Amino acid sequence: MDGSVESCVALTFDDGPAAELTGGLLDTLAAEGAPAPFFVLGQSVNDHPDVARRIVDDGHEIANHTWSHRDLATLEEGAIIDEIETTNAAIEEATGVRPTYLRPPYGSYSEVVQGATDQPIVTWDVDSADWQSRDSGAVVEAVLGSASPGSIVLMHDIHASTVDAVPAIIDGLRAEGYTLVTVDTILASTDPQPGEVHQRGQ
Ligand code: NI
Repeated sequence: MDGSVESCVALTFDDGPAAELTGGLLDTLAAEGAPAPFFVLGQSVNDHPDVARRIVDDGHEIANHTWSHRDLATLEEGAIIDEIETTNAAIEEATGVRPTYLRPPYGSYSEVVQGATDQPIVTWDVDSADWQSRDSGAVVEAVLGSASPGSIVLMHDIHASTVDAVPAIIDGLRAEGYTLVTVDTILASTDPQPGEVHQRGQ
């Protein structure tokens, strides 16, 4: 369609919203003028609806990461639908927005999961391993060392070391000519369908 996605990267943040850490991250993103996708847990939206609302009000993308972070591939269809739909409802109630995308916890899905959702499934091609390292320098290195045009990067806004790494990641990606975008933008040319899995832009 157009070549714009070639220079784009989506920095995605999972498992929030957390009260203070997500707030600090939103401050950084506002200062940098960088949009980001947030894959939130329904139970955390329930705890921090104000932070969820700010994600949307600040112009970011909010998406579904299930209610309680269970491995959807191990659940019966009814429980899968419950994990997904309670989260869509919590997000919509807090923000007024119905999320477009679903990211199953651990990137784990099955044909049953794919058939149980009316949302395209978004995983990632770059894993920052931030939950393992808990080290800002290592997170910066992991992302800058692996990001390529169209990458979708996995990070978590529930770790201070991740939030601390974001300014250097944004500066480093921009220095390499990348533009930070939402999933909507990075998948714009792919016409994502319900239950279809997308690991990166094309
Ligand atoms: Ni997660």
